[in-house]
Amino acid sequence: MREFRLGLIGAGRMGQVHLRAASESLLVEVTAVVEPVAATRLALERSGIKTYETADEMIDAGEIEGVLIATPSKTHVENIRNIAARGLPILCEKPCGVTAEEARKAAEAAEQFKVHLQIGYWRRFVPELEKLRQNIRSGLLGEPYLISCFQWDETPPAASFRATGGGALIDMGVHEFDQLRWLTGQEPSNFRVAASKTTFAGKVEGDPDAVQLLCDLSGGGVGLVSLGRRFPPGDACWAQVFGTSGFEEARFFWPPNGEAVFLTALRSQLEDFVQAARGGVSQGATAQDAVTALAIAEAATEVLSV
Ligand SMILES: NC(=O)c1ccc[n+]([C@@H]2O[C@H](COP(=O)([O-])OP(=O)(O)OC[C@H]3O[C@@H](n4cnc5c(N)ncnc54)[C@H](O)[C@@H]3O)[C@@H](O)[C@H]2O)c1
Repeated sequence: MREFRLGLIGAGRMGQVHLRAASESLLVEVTAVVEPVAATRLALERSGIKTYETADEMIDAGEIEGVLIATPSKTHVENIRNIAARGLPILCEKPCGVTAEEARKAAEAAEQFKVHLQIGYWRRFVPELEKLRQNIRSGLLGEPYLISCFQWDETPPAASFRATGGGALIDMGVHEFDQLRWLTGQEPSNFRVAASKTTFAGKVEGDPDAVQLLCDLSGGGVGLVSLGRRFPPGDACWAQVFGTSGFEEARFFWPPNGEAVFLTALRSQLEDFVQAARGGVSQGATAQDAVTALAIAEAATEVLSV
């Protein structure tokens, strides 16, 4: 089948990772990029990709079949509205805006213009997690007592990012909140949060070095989300299930293999998006999933700030 012609909006840190992931795909090709930074556009042009300063110019050229948004989160909703009005399917990076309200507005725009809108929660495309999900959902592990989801970064991001990113529960936690719901099919509630008082990663108001969240799960078990800004072994994510019939751990993102896992999952996610854009069924996160992940992050942040 012919490769799907994808337009990328935003070729920063994450956009460049998507470009690498897409380059390994036989199903999708990034043929156009929108990026306001001239030097980035020039580098992309040299590698044979058409570039534009605005999304309207890219869409007016009439050559793309769908759009991947990898711009800063505060611009997601405006971009989604604009692209949806032009009738193109959209894969938007998480979290889909910076508040649940913004994600809701994005969902409404997609509904109004009847376009497919998918959110980039890439954990849903990690084979080790898919297996864990199957083992939970099939009952192989029995009834889950505790499901723990860990995300620990080797080094903290810049203080400026930490001060404006909404804190770890929003910036990092949305991945774990979506993962917890997707793994179990259960809804979390009754959040309890504890923050470390250490300041190794630097003291940033509203963003402690490490945050631990406990919640009830609608199936009767407990969820734990563990987030940290400093983890000497390297960037890592893992999950554990303690069930009445068994225990399973998925160390799905662990040094030195994290990057390879990430690229493979991003490629699978892009290919899933293409199938959905062509009328198939997506395994990816919906805009409603994004609303829920942000609503949980907001509720947990409120508990932390009390
Ligand atoms: N899925 C993940 O694990 C993951 C990881 C990192 C970042 N992200 C998400 O990716 C998004 C981008 O983050 P980043 O770290 O790449 O940011 P970044 O600042 O490195 O890159 C953003 C890029 O978008 C460009 N840009 C800004 N406004 C634009 C606009 N209106 N139109 C077109 N381009 C525009 C900027 O010039 C920049 O090149 C965020 O939503 C972030 O949450 C996701």
